[in-house]
Amino acid sequence: MATSPILQPTKLGDLALKNRVVMAPLTRSRSPKDGVPPPFAADYYGQRAGCGLIVSEATNISPQGVGYAYTPGIWSDQQVERWRAITGTVHANDGLIFLQLWHCGRISHPDVQPGGATPVSASAIRPKGTAFTETGMQAHVTPRALETDEIPGIVEDYRRAAVNAKAAGFDGVEVHSANNYLLEQFVRDTTNHRTDRYGGSIENRLRFPLEVVRAVTEVWGGGGRVGIRLSPATSAPGDTPLDSDPRATYGAYVDALAAFGLLYIHLIEGVTQQTRDTPDGVDRADLRRRFKGAYIGNNQMTLALAEKELAAGHADLFSFGRPYIANPDLVDRLATGAPLAEAPKPYWYGGGANGYSDWPGMHGPVDVRR
Ligand SMILES: Cc1cc2nc3c(=O)[nH]c(=O)nc-3n(C[C@H](O)[C@H](O)[C@H](O)COP(=O)(O)O)c2cc1C
Repeated sequence: MATSPILQPTKLGDLALKNRVVMAPLTRSRSPKDGVPPPFAADYYGQRAGCGLIVSEATNISPQGVGYAYTPGIWSDQQVERWRAITGTVHANDGLIFLQLWHCGRISHPDVQPGGATPVSASAIRPKGTAFTETGMQAHVTPRALETDEIPGIVEDYRRAAVNAKAAGFDGVEVHSANNYLLEQFVRDTTNHRTDRYGGSIENRLRFPLEVVRAVTEVWGGGGRVGIRLSPATSAPGDTPLDSDPRATYGAYVDALAAFGLLYIHLIEGVTQQTRDTPDGVDRADLRRRFKGAYIGNNQMTLALAEKELAAGHADLFSFGRPYIANPDLVDRLATGAPLAEAPKPYWYGGGANGYSDWPGMHGPVDVRR
């Protein structure tokens, strides 16, 4: 266990990682309306700095990008300042942290949009299910299809967010192109019915996500500190149908991402949180083969599975989501075989420090250096 190759130091591009364990991005909805993370978020992230790399909770690039109540942003000076305190704490604890850049698109609700606006998407197709708002869960609405000439403005929002992430002291950024949020709404032909140059052919559907990747890599001096998250087999949220040809669509996507020299792809393997089984037409081995950078595997990961995947050459790094909620010292527990604590669901989203930054380690409170 302690000698597990998963827990040995490794390299990710020019970054030296303590181990191959990644903390997966976890939305915890602890930020007030101004999108400034709470002060105790520095404790939360600092306590979890024992992994090789933390990917932050998804963070809105703009007020229009917001889809869930109490989620943080990276567009205002106050947000940047608070994130700087968080990254400073992670670094003081010898950790590394990337910011996940988020625009929810249609997975939103007028109640969380500026001025009660209708959420935007590639096309005016209403997602199934409900949105998390300050007044509770509310049915999704039919989004407004973005005008062609609005898209450059959103690319600029990503660029500004990438600039702000740098100013906030992050070690890199992860473009959130997974879980059926705005970028994936453009990628899939089931949610993109556009007839302009951002819809139709695979090349056209990838145009906007790749414009975003281009802007972000320009800010970060190339792809060396930029990763991306993909989820070709996931239908949540919104009960979103998969692309009609995931192999061709995501294959072309990964080829283009490889050409940008991105640091890693972070793949949700199977259906998020539900199963690692992959539907027909989704071929993660093919995606890994096409990509030159690192591959982070995610979904229901265990130490034993990570060891198997590493030995088989299927992945380089392994991200853990739910286990990080109640196990700030997850790496130590994996090293010793100690049991993992389970976080009751009411603690997942919303609330304060309770059930968030007050989970003890195996031996009591986890010390955080400042
Ligand atoms: C409470 C919670 C919040 C999540 N928030 C995010 C998020 O902000 N960004 C993201 O890409 N995935 C998010 N996910 C998905 C996780 O990163 C991960 O892909 C998923 O939980 C499967 O991994 P696991 O089996 O290790 O939990 C979230 C999952 C949970 C349970």
